[in-house]
Amino acid sequence: MNTYGLILAGGVGTRMGNIEKPKQFMELMGRPIIIYTIEKFAVNPELDKVIVLTPRQWIKHTEDIVAKNIPENDRVVVIEGGSTRNETIMNGIAYIEKNFGLDDDTVIVTHDAVRPFVTHRILEENIRLAKEYGACDTVIAATDTIVESKNHTVISDIPDRSVMYQGQTPQSFKAKLLRATYEGLSEDEKNILTDACKILAMKGVPVRLVEGEVHNIKITYPYDLRVAESILGGNTAC
Ligand code: CTP
Repeated sequence: MNTYGLILAGGVGTRMGNIEKPKQFMELMGRPIIIYTIEKFAVNPELDKVIVLTPRQWIKHTEDIVAKNIPENDRVVVIEGGSTRNETIMNGIAYIEKNFGLDDDTVIVTHDAVRPFVTHRILEENIRLAKEYGACDTVIAATDTIVESKNHTVISDIPDRSVMYQGQTPQSFKAKLLRATYEGLSEDEKNILTDACKILAMKGVPVRLVEGEVHNIKITYPYDLRVAESILGGNTAC
């Protein structure tokens, strides 16, 4: 049974503001964010390959920093991402099919390049649940009450917090199951269903939960870089 890591780095980081390179290449304590993320995957013996997907013009740069920071590793490959996050995942699946073949049990562990604090425990549980059940999502229990406002002015609902979770990554799947479901979507559905797990959940496919970690943050805004520095500086076990 083949298992592949897909590091999703095809975005440009608009919300990070005016930056000279996509946020996944910005440095955190002297090393590119994406390197911390790739390292976590590169040492996992269950992954046959770690496929890093970046914008085309950043492929060479990514190959260079991988060679410099993670030498003697022949499992990491860098290829081009897609125009949306889901299209990036589809490019990864197409690469696996072309180079290694796909069968019904081929598993992909998809992960945001900008979540460098994923843990080995989270990765192991993702692989186990995706193999056993076909799909899983990493989440943490919601700490704040979630308030819904459909018109962005007045509350339309306050769901029961005890059944609310916040989504993180990895999100892991049997690759053929995800692709078949994605390809069955209309263009309108593809535009709305930007979360890969939501695609399956909306189509009635059970998606199991993996418990995430509070420190498995996504670096989205400049403030998150400061938080990431303090997580690293504080030696949080990750
Ligand atoms: N991503 C991707 N391919 C895309 C778009 C996003 O692989 N076409 C990746 C990003 O590189 C990131 C992850 O998906 O690692 C989570 O997305 P997000 O934080 O939204 O990243 P960006 O799209 O880069 O940020 P922004 O929305 O601020 O532009």
